[in-house]
Amino acid sequence: MCGIIGIASNKPVSSNIIQSLKRLEYRGYDSAGIATIGNGEIYEKKCIGRVDNLEKVLFKNPSKGILGIGHVRWATHGVPSQVNAHPHSSEQVSVVHNGIIENSNDLKKDLENKGYKFKSQTDTEVITFLLTDLLKDFDILNAIHKTLEKLHGSFALGIIFKKFNNIVVGARRGSPLAVGYGHEENYLGSDSYALKSMTNKITYLDDGDICVLSNNKVEFYNSKNIKINKEVLTLSDDKHITDKGDHKDFMSKEINEQHVTAQTCIKEYVDQLRQDINLYHFPIEPKDITKIILIGCGTAYHACVTAKYWFEELTNIPVEIDIASEFRYRKLKFDNKNLYVFVSQSGETADTYAALDLCKKNNVKTCAIVNVVESSIARTSDFVLPIHAGPEIGVASTKAFIGQMLVLYLLVLKMSEVRKEISQTDYVNKISELKKLPSLIKDVLKCQDQVQVIAKDFLKAKGAMFLGRGLSFPIALEGALKLKELSYLHAEGYPAGEMKHGPLALIEEGLPVVVLAPKDKYFEKTISNMQEVIARGGKVILITNESTNIISENVRFTLEIPKTDDYLTPFLMTIPLQLLAYHVASLKNCDIDKPRNLAKSVTVE
Ligand code: AGP
Repeated sequence: MCGIIGIASNKPVSSNIIQSLKRLEYRGYDSAGIATIGNGEIYEKKCIGRVDNLEKVLFKNPSKGILGIGHVRWATHGVPSQVNAHPHSSEQVSVVHNGIIENSNDLKKDLENKGYKFKSQTDTEVITFLLTDLLKDFDILNAIHKTLEKLHGSFALGIIFKKFNNIVVGARRGSPLAVGYGHEENYLGSDSYALKSMTNKITYLDDGDICVLSNNKVEFYNSKNIKINKEVLTLSDDKHITDKGDHKDFMSKEINEQHVTAQTCIKEYVDQLRQDINLYHFPIEPKDITKIILIGCGTAYHACVTAKYWFEELTNIPVEIDIASEFRYRKLKFDNKNLYVFVSQSGETADTYAALDLCKKNNVKTCAIVNVVESSIARTSDFVLPIHAGPEIGVASTKAFIGQMLVLYLLVLKMSEVRKEISQTDYVNKISELKKLPSLIKDVLKCQDQVQVIAKDFLKAKGAMFLGRGLSFPIALEGALKLKELSYLHAEGYPAGEMKHGPLALIEEGLPVVVLAPKDKYFEKTISNMQEVIARGGKVILITNESTNIISENVRFTLEIPKTDDYLTPFLMTIPLQLLAYHVASLKNCDIDKPRNLAKSVTVE
């Protein structure tokens, strides 16, 4: 998952390209590059590491080109290096690519037999030479179409040509790509966030689309090389949301604004007067739903696991949960009485998008729960429930998780009411409990100092475990994921009752074990599992909302969260775990917003 930018202008473009690449760095940050056309020549500069390095290179050796492309990389084929960084150029063509070309080896062999000399280990360089080769016999549009026909896999491309030095060409299949409209210049970018600093007028490409940009014109062609018109969207202005304010990093800001995420979501969906939840023309009558299938990846998948408990307990609808990268390859029976729900912060995650595409092809009802409402998953689903969390920049998802769980819970409550699985009184009580959530989240955020002390205990640890039962189990999974992706410490989330079936062997003197034990129907069982861990030397950090009756002399730390409805406890349990991962990573001087080897939106398989 890389970031692409292209600009066709009548004035030098490299500084705008650099600024847009900085906005795109959450998509990949192991190397960067730029190519412009100046004096009829392709001018290419690339470097390993952050865009800042590229900016320094350009400072010494500026480019005056009025047309160019840029790229930030998350390596798939070939290690992060200067030669593997994009763009990949020949005499005639320069290409930036986001995606994976699955048949690149075969194509490479043919091109090497034709005498082309490859410099990099990437799959992308194949596109450069294929196009260079086809331009010998075909005009530019036919050469591009013939090139794309030969490619298997996913791509979003930005291409410039020595011979046609006033156009930038873009093409999409699977990976997101958008066009932005400016004054005497036009833009190409991986997403609206990249283009927002230059325009609020954009068009999204769909699979198979090609666009040809010059500084005063934009043309679109479909996969059959037929000219098409595309809708121009106006983006909402949210400049103020994308700065850190007085926070050290975006993650700290995003953790500390989760009460606002909850407030906004409740305001958007709860009719305060009628004490009712409004889902605005939901695509399927809840009474007719026979099964719900919840699909997502990573943190979004953990929101699905949490919702499974809510749906089963409150709506009496059977639920399946699935990791998108597995769902899309399983032998499935589709049923149009089922509802397929896709959960994704970015709305661009390739596996989730492909799973949705599979459902569309089988004509079943789909609903997307996303943060980016202009995303591919949102635009492709029958119905969208936005989570209203605002842009989430830190790679580790925090406020989006709270937003995803909240919209799922609102969906559960509304369905349980429509299906008369809960009484009207219960329904109204649950809504009033829900309205207290933003201030409860604010209260929990006050545990920062305590968590900072606890975090020190993880610095010398070889690993960590997170245990929970029922609704606390998916939160244990999420806690472990946050610690892994931010502090690079190996951690596992586990159903507490499952420990004695093997993982208990991992417990040794001093191993930090976070136990989630709210006062619910699983409380006693979880506490006895905790005692089994303590008996083997585990260092327990207990998070509960009822510490009085617990034998805690051997508990290392107890962190108390406010009491609330059992169904809402997962929201409050999550925050200390986010803070723990944050503080362990800070103490280890890890890059909080851009952890190694990761990216914010995973647009490749
Ligand atoms: C979570 O912190 C990670 N960034 C990752 O697991 C993420 O949740 C996953 O890639 C799914 O992303 P999405 O919600 O944008 O689809």
